[in-house]
Formats: sequence, C-alpha cells, structure tokens
Amino acid sequence: MAVGVFDSGLGGLTVLDAVSKRMPDTPFVYFGDNAHAPYGVRTHDDIFNLTCAATERLWAEGCDLVILACNTASAAALKRMQETWLPPNKRVLGVFVPLIEALTERQWGDNSPPRAVAVEHVALFATPATVASRAFQRELAFRAIGVDVEAQPCGGVVDAIEQGDEILAEALVRSHVESLKRRMPQPQAAILGCTHYPLMQKAFQDALGPQVKVFSQANLVAESLADYLARRPEFLGTGTQSKFLTTGDPDYVSSKATQFLRRQIVFEAA
Ligand code: DGL
Repeated sequence: MAVGVFDSGLGGLTVLDAVSKRMPDTPFVYFGDNAHAPYGVRTHDDIFNLTCAATERLWAEGCDLVILACNTASAAALKRMQETWLPPNKRVLGVFVPLIEALTERQWGDNSPPRAVAVEHVALFATPATVASRAFQRELAFRAIGVDVEAQPCGGVVDAIEQGDEILAEALVRSHVESLKRRMPQPQAAILGCTHYPLMQKAFQDALGPQVKVFSQANLVAESLADYLARRPEFLGTGTQSKFLTTGDPDYVSSKATQFLRRQIVFEAA
C-alpha cells in the first residue's frame, strides 16, 4: 500500500517528512531526480518527459498514486499528464491546490463561485518555470476574487540548496525578497511555491518581517493526502516498503538529505 512522492531533487523531502508523520503506517517511496535538477529553468516539454519517466519508475515500486511534491512539475506537467497520459487505474496529484485552499480558507471540493477573501496582497516565490506558467494565478482565480499576486521567480535558490550552499541560498532569498518588495512593499501573505523553499523558511520570514504570514506546503499537502486516501483507499498501491530513490549520486544525496531532515536517510540508485 505504498504512495509515491516525486521531486526534481531534495525539496520534496519537506513534503515526504510531513506525509510520513501524518500517516506513519503508510510506506512512501521517494524519487528525487537529482541528476536533472533544477527543473525550474527547463522547458515545459522537458519537465513533462522527466516527470512522466519518474512517475513510471514509482509505478514499478507499486505506487498507483504519485504526489508531485514539486510545484514546477505540478505547474508545467500535471494537467497534460492527467489529460493525455495517465491510465485510468493511476493517479497523480499536485501540490498547488491544498495551498490555495488554505490561502482562500476553502474546504476541499468547495466548488462555489470565486469570492472575496481576507488577504488581498500576496507574494508568490517560485521557480522561473512555475512563475512563467501562471498556474498559481489560474488556480487562485477559480476560488478568489480581488487578490493581487506579485510573483518573484527565484533563480538560483534550488541550485544552491541542491549543492548544499546554504550561505548562497540565504543571500539569494534576501535579494529575491528585496526585489519583490520593490514591486509590492507590504504583502500580507507570502506563498513558498517551491518545495525546496521550506528548507529556507527562516530566511524568507526574516527578510519579509514578522507581519507577513508565510504559507508553505508540507503540512497542507499531508492533510489533503490523508483526506484523499480516506475517500479513495483503492489508490494505495501494492508496494510494501518505504525507500528513497535518486538519479543522482546516492551517497551525496543521502548525506544532504540526512542533513536537511536531521535523521538518517539512505538513498539508492533509481
Ligand atoms: N522543488 C521543486 C519545486 O517545487 C523545485 C523545482 C526545480 O527543480 O527547479 O518547484
């Protein structure tokens, strides 16, 4: 009864950590496509092909349901996968919708017309591909009106995190926040729209200031997955073992993952 969790690299571990705490008895198979990270600077076709390949690998581990714990893949590939590629007995879910439901204070499945919500000025931090897709604004427009979203493509941050260069990642976060604040001086809320960014959450919060509510995805996705599986238990696949797969160097990726999650994580070659 395993569930697959996919990211271009280490960022999806923030989601993996939350889902495995929320559902301790469910085996999760994590796939990090570290050899091809970052996705955020790739074309949509490229992201689609890589994400499909990773998803197929997770099916081979007995995971009929795969969470794309990657906003870039959710923004650039998910709709096309669901519409043109996915067989009827498999599911692929993204990480945008739970975040937008939290921001707009909606329950799952509330399909009522878009309405005014409490926050009006929202800063979105995401990869260049996610920002270019405008997927976040599209999903938000289905649910809320009158929300002004200023998006900041955070070039370089995923690369710095993947390379374990925290100092560079922090400096880049500060400079991206400053550049956003020049266009939106007083955001009420900030969305960390990349699963790598919770690893830098303190740097974002410090640069934004305590008055800004920072939304990040991990716990929201965990709640939403638990709810989904309670309704659709048939998508718990046949896999029985938790494991961590990478297309990168397993030793290097294991040591970075262990450092980030502060528990021993052992990756094997995908
Ligand atoms: N964690 C991925 C995301 O959520 C990072 C994408 C990348 O590899 O650039 O967008």
